[in-house]
Amino acid sequence: MTTLSQTQPRQPLLKTALPGPQTRAIMERDAQHLSTSYMRPYPFVPDHGEGVWLTDVDGNTMLDFFAGIAVSTTGHAHPHVVQAVQEQIGKFAHVCLTDYPQEITTRLAERLVSHIERPGEKWRVFFGNSGAEAVEAAVKLARNHTGRTHIISTLGSFHGRTYGAITLTGSKTKYKRGFGPLLPNVSHVPYPNPFRPPLGSTPETCGQAVLNHIEGLFQTVIPADEVAAIIIEPMQGEGGYIVPPADFLPGLRALCDKYGILLIFDEVQAGMGRSGKMFSFQHFGADGQSCQPDIVTLAKGIASGLPISAMLAKERVMTWPVGSHGSTFGGNPVAAAAAHATLDLLEGVVKHPGCGANLMENAREVGDSIMAELRAMQAEFPFLGDVRGRGLFIGLEFVKPDGSPDGALRDRASMAMFERGLLNLDCGEAVIRISPPLILTREEAQTGLSIMREALASL
Ligand SMILES: Cc1ncc(COP(=O)(O)O)c(C=O)c1O
Repeated sequence: MTTLSQTQPRQPLLKTALPGPQTRAIMERDAQHLSTSYMRPYPFVPDHGEGVWLTDVDGNTMLDFFAGIAVSTTGHAHPHVVQAVQEQIGKFAHVCLTDYPQEITTRLAERLVSHIERPGEKWRVFFGNSGAEAVEAAVKLARNHTGRTHIISTLGSFHGRTYGAITLTGSKTKYKRGFGPLLPNVSHVPYPNPFRPPLGSTPETCGQAVLNHIEGLFQTVIPADEVAAIIIEPMQGEGGYIVPPADFLPGLRALCDKYGILLIFDEVQAGMGRSGKMFSFQHFGADGQSCQPDIVTLAKGIASGLPISAMLAKERVMTWPVGSHGSTFGGNPVAAAAAHATLDLLEGVVKHPGCGANLMENAREVGDSIMAELRAMQAEFPFLGDVRGRGLFIGLEFVKPDGSPDGALRDRASMAMFERGLLNLDCGEAVIRISPPLILTREEAQTGLSIMREALASL
């Protein structure tokens, strides 16, 4: 494997005032012709990237702490990924997996399920192109398999932009306003956020409080035997990079078993090694046994930026009949080649220089060091109310002196970091998410942290 160049910058390199002239010109054209729904949190127009660095059209090189929303697992233009894509596109780019098998995608399915299967329990895979498609597939399968219609989701969740997915989403009304009617028979319950415990609970009791709340709904408004599935992000992404208490997901698994309800884990944002384990749910469960869902959705980080998603389901659940679901592009062989290359690095089949045995291990180690330093910064900056996460899935929550979320300060912090050459992205009400490529080294993390400290001190 060729390696990334040895000449990568150690600091952001800002050649122009931001935004530079080329950036401004493209942003003006963009504002003329692209969808009015697109957001532009700050003026950045990429030209090329290498590793954890992105250079804009004016030649300004920035450190990437958000990876295109947790997508660029192996960084930008990783030689191993580039080579895999080039090789596959030279063979064939499309035949349609719904109708014809293709070895590269069969092998990808085998590889993905190897990370979740246990003895005596087989899993199958449906491939799509985006997270929302994986979520749609999961919900369709759950209804089709159980013959039940009701789906329970969580407040603060994000599951995508298609009709089913926006119905399930519980983070912001702007995703739903003016788009109704949405999917019937969907309910939302609170997410157990230990920093802002719902339902009058405490950080320690919030998991049980949500479980009790769901059981209460089963007695009053939702007949449990009409519930097909509960869908949840094992660590909530868009809603604020929240890690639930240790007892919650095992409790949810037990509750689903009690009522014959399928448990869907949406791992689109936290999965594929980002949390330091292949799937974020693997952080939870007793006796080293993670608490298994029935269905898992994956996308984002799966192929280092190429569009592919997967819905994994236990074999006994994937009972929908031949022809009932499919996709023209889903499981595309070029994206599958990128997914294999990404898995090579995640599993350590191919090593990335300076990143330990594999990228999951690197995510754990570098993520721990970032969190330790951010927690130390809390003493310096009292408006940093909470630092939380696992691996390189880290949330930094900004608070007012009374402890309430400070979204305005978060926005200023985000811009101050950008102006100093650190790409970052908000989430939740007042959170900055830190979700860099998993090849981030300790030294690069240190560079990012220094920029953050300087930006925070300027507020
Ligand atoms: C947890 C989760 N599910 C689903 C989605 C939707 O993915 P996509 O934008 O690829 O449709 C997202 C996107 O942010 C997500 O974070």
